[in-house]
Amino acid sequence: MPITAEEIKNKLQSPGDDLVFFVNGKKITEKNAEPEKTLLTYLRRNLGLTGTKLGCAEGGCGACTVMVSKYHPHQNRIIHYAVNACLAPLCSLHHCAVTTVEGIGSMASKLHPVQERIAKAHGSQCGFCTPGIVMSMYALLRNNPQPSMHDVQEAFQGNLCRCTGYRPILEGYRSFTKDGGCCGGKAQSNGCCMTNEHTQEHVNVSRTDIQTPCSIFSEYKHIFVLNYICALQSLSKQPQRELRFAGERVLWIQPCSLEELLELKATYPNAKLVVGNTEVGIEMKFKNLFYPVILAPAYIPELNIIQNTQDGIQVGASVTLTVLGDVLRAAVKKLPAHQTEVFKAVLEQLRWFAGQQIRNVAAVGGNIMTASPISDLNPVFMAASCKLTVMSKGEKRVIEMDGKFFPGYRKTILKPEEILLSIEIPYTRKGQYFSAFKQSPRKEDDIAIVTCGMNVFFKEQSNIVQSIRISYGGMAPVTVLATATCNRLLNRQWNEELLEEACTSLAEEMNLSPSAPGGMVTYRRTLTIKFMFLGVTVEDVRPEYTSATELFQLDSPSSVQLYQAVPPGYSDDVVGQPIMHLSALKQATGEAIYCDDIPCYENELHLALVTSTKAHALIKSIDTSDAMAVPGVVAFISAKDIPGSNMTGPVVYDETVFADDKVTCVGHIVGAIVADTQAHAQRAAKAVKISYEELQPVIVTIQDAIANKSFFQPVRSIERGDVAQGFKDSDHILHGEMHIGGQEQFYLETNCTLAVPRGEDGEMELFVSTQSASKTQALVAKALGVSANRVVCRVKRMGGGFGGKESRSTILSTVVAVAAHTVKRPVRCMLDRDEDMLVTGGRHPFFGHYKVGYMNNGRVMALEVTLYSNAGNSLDLSLSILERALFHMDNSYNIPNIRGTGYVCKTNLPSNSAFRGFGGPQGMMIAESWMSDVALSCGLPAEEVRRMNMYKEGDFTPFSQRLDNFTIDRCWEECMQLSDFNKRKDAVEQYNRQHRWTKRGLSIIPTKFGISFTAVFLNQAGALVLVYSDGSVLLTHGGTEMGQGLHTKMVQVASKTLGIPCSKIHITETSTNTVPNTSPTAASASSDLNGMAIYNACQTLLQRLQPYKDKNPKGCWEDWVKAAYFDRVHLSANGFYKTPDLGYDFETNSGRPFNYFSYGVAVSEVEIDCLTGSHKNLHTSIVMDVGKSLNPALDIGQVEGGFMQGLGLFTLEELRYSPDGYLYTRGPGMYKIPAFGDIPIELKVSLLRDAPNEKAIFSSKAVGEPPLFLAASVFYAIKDAITAARAESNLTGPFRLDSPATPERIRNACEDKFTKLCPPADPGTFIPWAVQV
Ligand SMILES: Cc1cc2nc3c(=O)[nH]c(=O)nc-3n(C[C@H](O)[C@H](O)[C@H](O)COP(=O)(O)OP(=O)(O)OC[C@H]3O[C@@H](n4cnc5c(N)ncnc54)[C@H](O)[C@@H]3O)c2cc1C
Ligand code: FES
Ligand code: FES
Repeated sequence: MPITAEEIKNKLQSPGDDLVFFVNGKKITEKNAEPEKTLLTYLRRNLGLTGTKLGCAEGGCGACTVMVSKYHPHQNRIIHYAVNACLAPLCSLHHCAVTTVEGIGSMASKLHPVQERIAKAHGSQCGFCTPGIVMSMYALLRNNPQPSMHDVQEAFQGNLCRCTGYRPILEGYRSFTKDGGCCGGKAQSNGCCMTNEHTQEHVNVSRTDIQTPCSIFSEYKHIFVLNYICALQSLSKQPQRELRFAGERVLWIQPCSLEELLELKATYPNAKLVVGNTEVGIEMKFKNLFYPVILAPAYIPELNIIQNTQDGIQVGASVTLTVLGDVLRAAVKKLPAHQTEVFKAVLEQLRWFAGQQIRNVAAVGGNIMTASPISDLNPVFMAASCKLTVMSKGEKRVIEMDGKFFPGYRKTILKPEEILLSIEIPYTRKGQYFSAFKQSPRKEDDIAIVTCGMNVFFKEQSNIVQSIRISYGGMAPVTVLATATCNRLLNRQWNEELLEEACTSLAEEMNLSPSAPGGMVTYRRTLTIKFMFLGVTVEDVRPEYTSATELFQLDSPSSVQLYQAVPPGYSDDVVGQPIMHLSALKQATGEAIYCDDIPCYENELHLALVTSTKAHALIKSIDTSDAMAVPGVVAFISAKDIPGSNMTGPVVYDETVFADDKVTCVGHIVGAIVADTQAHAQRAAKAVKISYEELQPVIVTIQDAIANKSFFQPVRSIERGDVAQGFKDSDHILHGEMHIGGQEQFYLETNCTLAVPRGEDGEMELFVSTQSASKTQALVAKALGVSANRVVCRVKRMGGGFGGKESRSTILSTVVAVAAHTVKRPVRCMLDRDEDMLVTGGRHPFFGHYKVGYMNNGRVMALEVTLYSNAGNSLDLSLSILERALFHMDNSYNIPNIRGTGYVCKTNLPSNSAFRGFGGPQGMMIAESWMSDVALSCGLPAEEVRRMNMYKEGDFTPFSQRLDNFTIDRCWEECMQLSDFNKRKDAVEQYNRQHRWTKRGLSIIPTKFGISFTAVFLNQAGALVLVYSDGSVLLTHGGTEMGQGLHTKMVQVASKTLGIPCSKIHITETSTNTVPNTSPTAASASSDLNGMAIYNACQTLLQRLQPYKDKNPKGCWEDWVKAAYFDRVHLSANGFYKTPDLGYDFETNSGRPFNYFSYGVAVSEVEIDCLTGSHKNLHTSIVMDVGKSLNPALDIGQVEGGFMQGLGLFTLEELRYSPDGYLYTRGPGMYKIPAFGDIPIELKVSLLRDAPNEKAIFSSKAVGEPPLFLAASVFYAIKDAITAARAESNLTGPFRLDSPATPERIRNACEDKFTKLCPPADPGTFIPWAVQV
């Protein structure tokens, strides 16, 4: 008899079992294991182990990676594997051992080599991803002490880093591999090669000063693991019994036999079976689904079976994908090739299936039973006609996975009381071909756009089709068979004619509504055709056509970094040395404290936001009754609770802290729930009901804004020369357009604030992850109605910022502060990734149209460009961002007659904001678009046209600033050499002649980036240097540390100025009560500004100490400090700096907006697959002018990290909005930032030699933002490859390619006979699923 809801409630009252497991070798007995709690929450909140980070809560970033070890009864051994703690249910860990980053090494005890090497290879910038990466590597080495580089890359498929660009991480860990690395302790001179001196000091900044040789790893292996291995083994001998864990709302039952499971499923037919929880966990967390009973069948022997049968291999439903992969790989090795075609296809799918952490826990049955239309495995299983054994109490049946198995979206034909027992994956026969394919936006760890399985059987000794079955995912709400096409192909010869006919037929059969969910309709249809080519390679396919049949391969990257060694005689001078980020080791051990790692106050509460679901509407009512009934809820906070002003904004106060009566975007903050735990607060926030009256218009896109004339004022314009005359003088004129999509900052640490009311005089202390401590202080004070001197804002470090925490973080801080003020208790909120992406906005999408006048030889005479940015619902920093785009509309080209006009569009999207480059990349991207159009129109090599139009020393920009110390030409020449451009170009041309369906492209792109805040008053900085009587120095300055290494550079500056070692200098935090009125850490200018302020303070101190130095010239720093102290000398000093001679007037087009410019050049080569639109980054060379580098390791880190973010911006990252302004892409599952596999296979970075910059501290240059744009070289290399593809269809001349160059855009631009089979629907005849905003 199925059980009632009431009976389930009663069962939740009865006590559950004890959960017994180990964490870092220590046994834990949890008496109240909560089924809804994840391992991550338990580690962080219950055990205080905050080294493991929360980056996304959906298994997509790897920040939460830990290692789980357990006794595997079916393998009869202890197995170790990396898992995502954010998805692992606490209750699934009974009799398991968990190892976290704290468990493997620490600063206080001993660093583990995986911790030390990532730090010393400069593989940790903000450090938020670092513990997860360390643990992925640790788990790999635990299982495979000498992995290959390929193993390392595979281990990191589930880890993301937003800062480093990945190269240094791979380089650091290459040292563990058999193919690139460490000698294994056998090096001749010094034991281990890692501890030996490096001779080529200026090549490869990685691997500096590594102290732990590889042999130490084995030592750790024994000491640490033995602790729990014995315990796990003895626990495994205990008799198995059913376990029950009763939580607040959910009952978790772990049966130990199949009979028990079937009995339970009969009693609880609606219960969810959970193995890996990689689907159910997502459904509960993000889709608001709730399952009161969970059955955990992971340990049931029959569900873990792996058995060879007569027809194939039978695999239990609970077998994980990792184990499935191992089994199939072994079978492929052992069996004759013709028998294992399906196995190979499954392995091909598994290669790109999620990351290793997911594959280690996700079960094959979970994938089948989720019935996702974009499952990677189901199309293969369906095409292979796999047999499924299903069971219920007293009944067992075997069914074939055919076209009827999935009767609807996420449904199977199983009855509620049935479970999937196993799947039989069949052998193939001679004459049978089987293939599988998956296309996704990012190759690694991404959800498929379309997947396919194809099964063809030929008549004996012929190429005549006897049977064929093609199955697709992503083409309907369920996995489907292309039955009609298959029928047409029966008894036909497999040749080019058949392929062409099959393509036409597929184009008809695999049709999609133009409004289909997921969008990309034309692209998805053309993809189904590509798979026909992959199915079987036929002999009479022309040689150049075989490129259509090749599968994507991932190559191991290689790299070179070049920088100028510190000149002889400067060896004691830390400035110029590639020293490691000062927090890197702490970051690698998990000891570095981020905002949410601060231990909870005893009476602390948690906050969750309540946000609008409408883009433009009046709020009619807010019903909080259900929310207030959630256990632990303390208050609902809204506009009425604000004691001061509800109006806020970084420049003008044009937005609300809480929406008053009207919402102007989806994600507009309406209120907040404060509760005892984050889970309760979030549950209650979802229960708040808001009713709306929708308003018109809803302006979402730039085009909507143009149509409605919805612009913020003023409209900006810059003009130089005589534009009309320039056009008259030109041989030709062309017009063009380009749209550049927005970008999410995707700092790994989301926005976080802890507000602590001090209880007297209106004082409030804030711990915040922000780039703008002073702005936070000011806006919080404004909302609380107190003066700024009552609010202290402290910033220890951020897990990345990239501009996203410059102004948008202040709203969350204000909300949290208001809540803390209202409930008079400390309140904390760290946004979940989906909330952060929804609420905080990102980089502005831009649209530009241009008119260019040019001569036959490619010289550009006149340009008129209009730029539109999508600012969202408030002004924020959008005007300055648009201004910077205009300041960069020329990129590096001297256009004698130029006019640029810029509009800031006001739309019903969350306010967009600062992001590395601050409008500059968008302005320059459009410049490169017209430059590319001019070259294509003239039929000239793009590099020649670019070079001809480039500025020279002493030229003037459109805003009348003279270019002094102009180094782009040097960067250009050096980059041409570094990349071997001419030879490369010949090779590309030759490749393209030989390949029809893959093409290569090459591009060289310069950048010129203006350094200074364009708001002049922000170009100031302060510092406070305290010297204690023991000689130690506490340094404080106005800048914040977000991973860029600012504090490290500032310590270097202080060290050089004071003449003392870095070890005597410490920075503890940035705070508004030490240095007031700080500018945001932004505009790449923080080293310049704060460095000079520190220099200034240190000079004051040096002057005060000079008499004591003079008195005791042979003394040391401590002697002089002590003498001064006893002489009652003031040993603290303020420093201040403001950049001189700045100020620009748009009215008169005069003045200097920038202190100086940073320059760089990049060459990139790519290969595209014309039929799928995938591309590979084959090569990038970068030459960057960073002046006289303060720290080459950090600067190269900025160059590579910035470049990779640009790569994401221009080729990968796509924010997708519905036509009514709803953001679909709200986490790493749907929004893809570059992963390890996206770095160029060959990457060379060189810092320009002998280029001192007299305008900044110690002749250095700003580096944070400028390199980002160099990734445009990849975009234009792609465009070059597309040009070659289009030429095959006789298409020449300019064409529009919007950014990012996603596989969809690349495929659609490579127009050919197949794209003609799937023409797009006419715009305006349908409502698209997503719009280009
Ligand atoms: C970050 C991430 C990346 C992913 N990438 C991919 C990808 O690349 N390709 C892809 O196809 N999928 C992907 N997925 C989806 C998911 O990982 C897979 O579907 C996985 O196989 C599910 O297995 P699980 O054991 O975790 O399922 P669970 O979440 O434990 O269960 C999933 C469903 O299956 C049911 N179920 C499980 N076992 C049985 C059984 N024996 N009988 C009846 N019902 C059962 C459950 O009740 C539940 O409804 C991804 C998920 C995440 C979080
Ligand atoms: S936090 Fe777990 S994978 Fe992102
Ligand atoms: S160092 Fe990897 S995310 Fe910052």
